[in-house]
Amino acid sequence: MRVLLTGGAGYIGSHVALVLLERGDDVIVVDDFSNSSPEGLRRVEKLTGGSIELVEADLADRAAAEAALADLDFEAVIHLAGLKAVGESVAQPSRYFRTNLNSTLNLLDIMRAKDVRKLVFSSSATVYGTPDADVDRLDESQPIGIGITNPYGRTKAFIEQIIADVQQAWPELEAVLLRYFNPVGAHPSGEIGEDPAGIPNNLMPFVAQVAVGRREKLSVFGDQYPTVDGTGVRDYIHVMDLAEGHVAALTHLSPGVEAYNLGSGEGHSVLEVVRAYEAASGREIPFEVVAPRAGDLAASVADPAKANADLDWRTTRTLGDACRDSWAWQTKNPNGFAPVG
Ligand code: NAD
Ligand code: WQD
Repeated sequence: MRVLLTGGAGYIGSHVALVLLERGDDVIVVDDFSNSSPEGLRRVEKLTGGSIELVEADLADRAAAEAALADLDFEAVIHLAGLKAVGESVAQPSRYFRTNLNSTLNLLDIMRAKDVRKLVFSSSATVYGTPDADVDRLDESQPIGIGITNPYGRTKAFIEQIIADVQQAWPELEAVLLRYFNPVGAHPSGEIGEDPAGIPNNLMPFVAQVAVGRREKLSVFGDQYPTVDGTGVRDYIHVMDLAEGHVAALTHLSPGVEAYNLGSGEGHSVLEVVRAYEAASGREIPFEVVAPRAGDLAASVADPAKANADLDWRTTRTLGDACRDSWAWQTKNPNGFAPVG
């Protein structure tokens, strides 16, 4: 298949590109490099022996998006492009809505004009907002959009609705909404991985930087939640399992819109992540418990049964595997993709 990856130069997109190339698909990436560099994709080419067609464009800019995609030939789109920093979205809501919504609207119009009917969208477990306290594992029948605590999360819920409305008007559209839980880890080669700019917002990249000595200690956001040890519980999914979920979704598309949770179905606390990373790295991770972070949930764990059944997909890698692979990436690339020196 010829697949267009929007945002394909980023953390998740580069791993999806790798899995597609290994399967023998043709990969085209469109990215504006606002949160990535072409280096990750160069490494993907080296790892796979494949080649990626790379187009630089801001998809939120209508004219630029049309110009970039006009002459390209592709049968399916995996739409990962977008801004994703929760805290930044609170400070810059218009930028988040403009970028994430306009990119998607432009893309959908271009797909329709070209009669490209296959779409896989990067959604997020954040669309479930603040679920009822008695819900242990979230399945796709849970309501979405209620109690979302930040503009980033609302962009995802709005885009899910936009795709559903466009499909009503264009019944041939075959769309899947993938609700990722917490993507972590890296390709086992340690050649590609997550390269956050500045201070990492997310737990595992922060822990990785503490382990490697770039930061002094981890701040644990709260230890009084009603969880196994009082710290927040999440469903951490290895990025290679997540990438394989995209391929599974691509091969199971049919007219309509379906949402799938991509998660392991298992929760781990912050302290469990710390211990797993200590075991994988052989380093001590100093930490200090601080106040809870605004908007955080006590727990968020997927029920992945629908994806297991319909997409014939399940996670095969453990939290320990993710820590090992994150550590390989971190030690081989202590400055991420930036040149050393
Ligand atoms: P990322 O920032 O590494 O990748 C996103 C890519 O999109 C980057 O390469 C960036 O340069 C590009 N991009 C941003 N705005 C663009 C624009 N206007 N035009 C073209 N390219 C643009 O993030 P990621 O972690 O790989 O996330 C990929 C997708 O998955 C995002 O949509 C994100 O919201 C979603 N998601 C991520 C997580 C997570 O924890 N990483 C969880 C749930 C959902
Ligand atoms: C995990 C746990 C924190 C950092 C976010 C977005 C979500 C999705 C994934 C895109 C929580 C705790 C964290 C730290 C800590 N992204 N923590 N100290 O908040 O579950 O999800 O990323 O769609 O939308 O909200 O992930 O990695 O930030 O936090 O104690 O320095 O680690 O409180 O319990 P989160 P996270």
